[in-house]
Amino acid sequence: MKITVIGAGAVGATTADNLVRRNVAEEIILLDIKEGVAEGKAQDMMQTSALLGFDSKVIGVTNDYEKTANSTVAVITSGIPRKPGMTREELIGTNAGIVKSVVENLLKYSPNIIILVVSNPMDTMAYLALKASGIPKNRIIGMGGALDSARFKYQICNKLNASANDINAVVVGGHGDTTMIPLIEHATWNSIPITNFLTKSEQDEIIKRTMIGGATLTALIGTSAWYAPGAAAAAMVESIVRDQNRLFTASVYLEGEYGQKDISIGVPVIINKKGWDRIIPLNLSEHEQELFIKSADAVRNMNKVLSDEGII
Ligand code: NAI
Ligand code: 2OP
Repeated sequence: MKITVIGAGAVGATTADNLVRRNVAEEIILLDIKEGVAEGKAQDMMQTSALLGFDSKVIGVTNDYEKTANSTVAVITSGIPRKPGMTREELIGTNAGIVKSVVENLLKYSPNIIILVVSNPMDTMAYLALKASGIPKNRIIGMGGALDSARFKYQICNKLNASANDINAVVVGGHGDTTMIPLIEHATWNSIPITNFLTKSEQDEIIKRTMIGGATLTALIGTSAWYAPGAAAAAMVESIVRDQNRLFTASVYLEGEYGQKDISIGVPVIINKKGWDRIIPLNLSEHEQELFIKSADAVRNMNKVLSDEGII
């Protein structure tokens, strides 16, 4: 079993590191366009194997797609990250060209591959990957909601002084500061609604902090985050490779589900060896439905840049 991670930057290297530590596949190919970077990071990771006790191998390559041949899954993290004050949307021009060519190269050597898109603006990049490749929709998955849901749980845990293992909470909608929808009414503490324990203003604060979760880290670090993004991508890859049927929010192509079509946006899905297997319906309140429509409109606006600029 082989997994490819494109981009050996902060998120790509962290994804590979999480995968190799957990022996998710025999071989992980880490590919970057910058000479030597992937090779160096792969060697560094392999030097932890004697300390951490894993048997998987991570192999770094510079833009050599032949080495990715017959991969089961690829994670696309190549592109430029956010700088402080920059929105994910501002990344579109540069990252669209990169994502499109990466998808073409991957498919040349692994025609049955499942692709996990991380590069931002992620919902638009997942849509682009699908439109540009024409492969079945279940093989293109956008990672964003899994990360946002983890950040939502983190905020809830902090407020309740609870264990993350006991919190269930999902964020749906676009992976953007203003488009994501943390579904607080659906969040539970071991099946008890968390709204039982929190005032309205505490709930609002959790929602706000979740929505600016990425921007908060970008302001602190000077570039976007990688530990939780890498862990989220690796968990989704593991669910594919080990056919775990885990439920994540992921950006997938909708054809009428949640009242939307011709768009990739975050909804709860089951992830297994088929890629995303099926969409899980949620009973959204009227307010939540309105927020979902607004979020989809914003994502659709962003997707329009792809056709306006002749990218698809
Ligand atoms: P980074 O700058 O650390 O790494 C990006 C890597 O991509 C660099 O090493 C660069 O050389 C490489 N690269 C650029 N063009 C390439 C190409 N054509 N082929 C192969 N490699 C190429 O950036 P970081 O922090 O790893 O972020 C990567 C992307 O992921 C950004 O677009 C960022 O906004 C996005 N991101 C998305 C998240 C999500 O939840 N969807 C979370 C965090 C980051
Ligand atoms: C994040 O949410 C910027 O998408 C990136 O951290």
